[in-house]
Amino acid sequence: MRAVIGGSGLEQLDGLVIEHRHQVDTPYGEPSAPVIQGRYEGQSLLFLSRHGERHQWPPHRVNYRANIHALKQLGAQQIVAVAAVGGLVEPNGPGALNVPDQILDYTWGRPQSFYDDGQGVEHIDFSQPYTPALRQSLLEAAQTAGEPAVDGGVYAATQGPRLETAAEVQRLIRDGAHLVGMTGMPEAALAREAELDYACLAVVANWGAGIADSELSLDEIYQTLARSMQRVRHVLAAWVAA
Ligand code: HPA
Repeated sequence: MRAVIGGSGLEQLDGLVIEHRHQVDTPYGEPSAPVIQGRYEGQSLLFLSRHGERHQWPPHRVNYRANIHALKQLGAQQIVAVAAVGGLVEPNGPGALNVPDQILDYTWGRPQSFYDDGQGVEHIDFSQPYTPALRQSLLEAAQTAGEPAVDGGVYAATQGPRLETAAEVQRLIRDGAHLVGMTGMPEAALAREAELDYACLAVVANWGAGIADSELSLDEIYQTLARSMQRVRHVLAAWVAA
């Protein structure tokens, strides 16, 4: 079954015909929100709001392990993670969609593995952090939907919840990043540990700190996101229908 994790601006998936609200418990505690099972474009889909239905969980407090575990328990095999990001280099300006292909992880202090507390030692291969075939179908869905997405980019996962300093953004660019967000890790690695296909649809909400002349305004970020989410829904509709 297919699943979507919705990020900021996508706390619910309009158009999803709800069949069940699963209140899931996992060995890692409760996920961010009930998992919604329903039909989207006539196809079965699971939907989970990463930050909770009231947007109550900041990036460093999201229970990523419970979220991935809950989706796996309910039969998910493929996850598309929608994530708001800042753009660092062209063509990833505000309003762009991107299906990243690499990750740099700057997060810390987040429970980042299912292999914890004596569950054994496992070192997953993470050379390609996003499932190539799923990336490809997402890119094709974006084309079909008439909302083309940039093919590939390095997603820098920062700790948040504050936005970056201008110097941090310059360092991320020197490190080779194209996008910056706060939730990409450990989510992607946990999906790989759980043997789930995982790809990200990144929605650029703003230029990274210090790139544009003005300060970052949360209002503007949310306005850009709101405008983009209609397009994201078209891409997801094409993905589930394919
Ligand atoms: N930085 C980190 N995360 C973000 C940003 C940003 O500029 N915009 C949206 N999510």
